This record gives sequence, structure tokens and C-alpha cells, in this order.
Amino acid sequence: MEKSEKTCHSPSRRQMMIGTAGVLAAGTVLTQLGGLLNSAHAVGGSTEKWPWRYEKLDPAKTAEIAYEEWYRVFCGAAVINSIFSQLREKVGEPYTSFPSDSFVFLEGGMVGWGMTCGSNAGAAIVANTIIGPRIQPEIAGKKVTEGHEITEDIFQWYSEASMPIFVPKTPKVTTELVKTKAESPLCHVSVGKWMKASGFPIGSPERKDRCARVAASVAYHLVELLNDWKDGKYKPTATHKPVKEFGITAQMNCMECHGDNVPSAPMAKK
Ligand code: HEC
Repeated sequence: MEKSEKTCHSPSRRQMMIGTAGVLAAGTVLTQLGGLLNSAHAVGGSTEKWPWRYEKLDPAKTAEIAYEEWYRVFCGAAVINSIFSQLREKVGEPYTSFPSDSFVFLEGGMVGWGMTCGSNAGAAIVANTIIGPRIQPEIAGKKVTEGHEITEDIFQWYSEASMPIFVPKTPKVTTELVKTKAESPLCHVSVGKWMKASGFPIGSPERKDRCARVAASVAYHLVELLNDWKDGKYKPTATHKPVKEFGITAQMNCMECHGDNVPSAPMAKK
């Protein structure tokens, strides 16, 4: 063997050796990958284990925190922080390591693009971070869907509510603020309808306080739902199931965009 290696320098021999090394390397990678696949931890990190410990919170206290936080980090991060700051104290990790302030970008329906209202997006992040995603392994033979469902509930509830609901103890703006129904979870639609009804522009203290109160209202309701979930009393309430019902991802306010002529999506043949 040694002799032949010393004497044989043909390309084919070298290729064969490289080939063998390659197969060995690939084998090692496969073994490592197998290890990773066997342990969800290794793939996703130590925080990907649900549910995160949740302690029941006071909705009104949470709403006050969200209201104040809005003036520092705006809607999305305000909702996240209103809950996670308290859980950092009551529970510690993994909440301590969660980078709540990163979510400032949810402001204005994400960097001002008027998409999902940051308060809704923040609530979705909180519910799904605590309860976990609907793709996690079943617990006691049951799919874990409450994070997903609480998100649906919040979106529908928000769309149908006269906002803002929550009035802080010491409001920064004392003018009485009109309430409007968005009929949509979108920032653009929600803020737009409110500005139209109130006459206040986007940069006004009134519009800002309105959005701070909306964040507080969402934080309040989210804590109610999470507390119910913690007590095993949570029941999903959302009725809007667009993909099943309409064969397309959508909000519920079809006619606001399509007028009377709402198109229908191609449905799968049975
Ligand atoms: C925020 C505005 C908005 C809402 C709300 C909305 N749509 Fe749309 N929808 C659009 C736009 C814009 C398009 C793209 C239209 C196009 O390209 O012709 C579209 C496209 C569609 C399409 C693709 C086929 C087509 O003819 O364009 C279907 C089907 C559809 N919408 C159904 C619905 C249904 C059903 C609802 C309510 C459950 C809904 N939409 C709510 C704005 C909206």
C-alpha cells in the first residue's frame, strides 16, 4: 500500500484519494446534520422550546406601560415591552434576552408603510413567542394552535373595535379623542379613518396619543387572552378564515378595496 502510494501519482489515483476524503467529509457532515435534526434545540437555539413560562399580568397595568412605552419605541415594541418587561421581572430568561427594542421597526405599519398596525404585529409576536408556533410537536396528542388563534382573535377584535378604547390615568393629551372602527388590521386604514374623522394630521399630538392608546388597548386585550390561556379557559373567537372561505389570503373588508365586484379565487377541484 505504501509503496504504491509513493510510486503512483497518476491523476486518477489522486482523484480517487480526493474522492475518498470527500466521502469521509460528507459522512461527517451527515452525522452532524443527523445530530442537529435529532435535536430541535441545535437547529433553533435554546429559546425554541414552548411554552415560555408565563405569569398572569394585570391588563390595566400592562396598558399603562404600553401607553408610556409608545412615546419611546412606538406601537409594536410598546406592546411587546409592556408584557416582556414585566415577565423579565417575574420570570427572567428567556425574556431577559429577548431584544424587544428591535421591533421599533413595526412603527407605522412597518417603517411607515401602513401595513399591519404595529400594535397587532407586536401582539402576534408576543402570543407566538410565549405559546409557540402551530408547527411545534403536539402536546398530549393535541396541536398547539393558541398562538395562531390569539393572533386571529386580536386582528378581528381590533378591526371591529371602536378605537382607542383605553384611557390612560394621566393622558399626555387631554382633548377628547374621537373613536373610529378600522374594519381592518392595517395601520394605513386604521390611522386614515381616524384622521378623516378627527381632522388631526399624522404629526399632531392628538394622532400620536390616539396611537399610544391603541397600543395600550391592544396590550390590555392581549393580556386578557393570555391570562385565560394560562388558566386553561381560552376559547378562540375569530370567525374570519379567509383562506378556507375565499381561497385567498385576505382581510375581511373585501368591498372597501374591490367595491361591489369582489373577484373570486380559483378553488381547488375536488
Ligand atoms: C386592502 C385592499 C383589499 C382587500 C381588503 C381585499 N382585496 Fe382582493 N385584491 C386587492 C388588490 C389590489 C388585488 C389585485 C387586483 C388586480 O391585480 O386585479 C386583489 C386581488 C384579489 C383576487 C385575485 C383575482 C383578481 O381578480 O384580482 C381575489 C380573488 C381577491 N382579491 C378576493 C378578495 C376577497 C374575497 C377579499 C375579502 C375576503 C379581498 N379580496 C379583500 C385588494 C384587496
